[in-house]
Amino acid sequence: MKKISKLIFSAVIALVAFGNQAKAEDFPADIKPLMQKYTCFACHKVDARLVGPAYKDVAKKKYSVDKIVGLMAKPQPSNWPGYPPMAPMTVPKDDAVKIAKWINSLK
Ligand code: HEC
Repeated sequence: MKKISKLIFSAVIALVAFGNQAKAEDFPADIKPLMQKYTCFACHKVDARLVGPAYKDVAKKKYSVDKIVGLMAKPQPSNWPGYPPMAPMTVPKDDAVKIAKWINSLK
């Protein structure tokens, strides 16, 4: 009996942890659909580290929009020591520019 309740407890914790991770709601209405479409939200939050860095921390690097667009297609893991490498993402230019401009608008 004890073992089972322990199992259920772990399952609940795992669910809560997962819920905290994948929250597209944190993004503004115009960016949220893009985060969902390209699954960015699974690894990035606006202001906290997840699998990847917070977008606010990316904004601090003061990249140009073009540079961010380039990094989505061809990440440079050496820019983020201590993080796993990001997989190259295929995002059409229009959407990539929208995301990059939004990242740079963060403070
Ligand atoms: C599977 C997890 C994952 C997904 C999905 C993901 N990222 Fe990342 N991202 C990371 C990690 C980890 C890093 C830091 C290591 C790196 O840059 O390789 C990162 C870094 C970045 C950086 C900083 C690049 C740099 O060199 O400073 C940007 C910008 C970025 N991601 C944007 C995006 C966008 C936009 C999407 C969706 C199109 C996305 N990421 C999807 C994990 C992810």
